[in-house]
Amino acid sequence: MRRLSSIAEVRAAVHAWRHSGERVVFVPTMGNLHAGHMSLIQAARAHGERFVASIFVNPMQFGPNEDFAHYPRTPEHDEHLLREAGCDLMFMPDVAEIYPHGAEGATRVEVPGLSDILCGEFRPGHFQGVTTVVCKLLHIVEPDAAVFGEKDFQQLTVIRRMVSELCMPVHIIAAPTVRDADGLALSSRNQYLSEAERVRAAALHRALMAAADRLAGGERDYAAVERDGLRALEGQGFRPDYFAVRRADDLGLPTADSAHLVVLTAAHLGKARLIDNVQVRR
Ligand code: PAJ
Repeated sequence: MRRLSSIAEVRAAVHAWRHSGERVVFVPTMGNLHAGHMSLIQAARAHGERFVASIFVNPMQFGPNEDFAHYPRTPEHDEHLLREAGCDLMFMPDVAEIYPHGAEGATRVEVPGLSDILCGEFRPGHFQGVTTVVCKLLHIVEPDAAVFGEKDFQQLTVIRRMVSELCMPVHIIAAPTVRDADGLALSSRNQYLSEAERVRAAALHRALMAAADRLAGGERDYAAVERDGLRALEGQGFRPDYFAVRRADDLGLPTADSAHLVVLTAAHLGKARLIDNVQVRR
């Protein structure tokens, strides 16, 4: 596996592979890799012959009072895991390589509407930072396909919309959420939880599953499901941002006959802000 930090070197490596007919699959990350990230590399295998992962903690997607400075950075650990997984190229640019004129006034990519609801309402500018960096990374790597986790369901939806509307020639692959035994979705931010909070954190997935069971059983009173979800989380000491039932295809408000739903939540527990979601088909 090669570890590269310049755009020019990445382009040269990928062009050589594509020239010899190999399909390139890309997995963008912010590093501090865990089994959730590694599942994306496994999912990539079915779609190509060469695998590129990026490790870039993107300043543009963090708000002024968020954890950009403290976000865990473990490049040696990440390099080891990617090598073991059979990744061909690890792209780890510094901030100046991606934002040569600074992130502040840089050209931006915006998906209006979808970026402003749910997490977007509580993290203004976050999804603009995500779409901007993912657009740039896709232009740098020019993969045949790119893999994203369903863990970040709204992010996946926003990226699909961007790729479609900007006519980007890349196939977007969704990979299911990897969880701990008690249901908590793996996340770098779980490290911010104390031991006691870590035990309570499983209530997030339990609340989503309870909502999903009710919806699968035919419940159409979505407002009641949302209210009970919020109450369950508050009862466990969370400070929820939202608990919402939406259409899975476009995150719009569901009607009584919507067949594919997603229940999404974001909630603070101690110093951590956790997000998770569960899909329901009926
Ligand atoms: P990061 O949080 O590092 O996540 C990278 C990818 O791993 C995302 O597609 C995310 O959905 C996926 N992922 C994280 N935890 C997962 C889990 N438990 N199961 C399955 N997949 C999981 O998401 C980002 O980085 C950034 O916003 C990025 C897209 C790289 C743009 O900066």
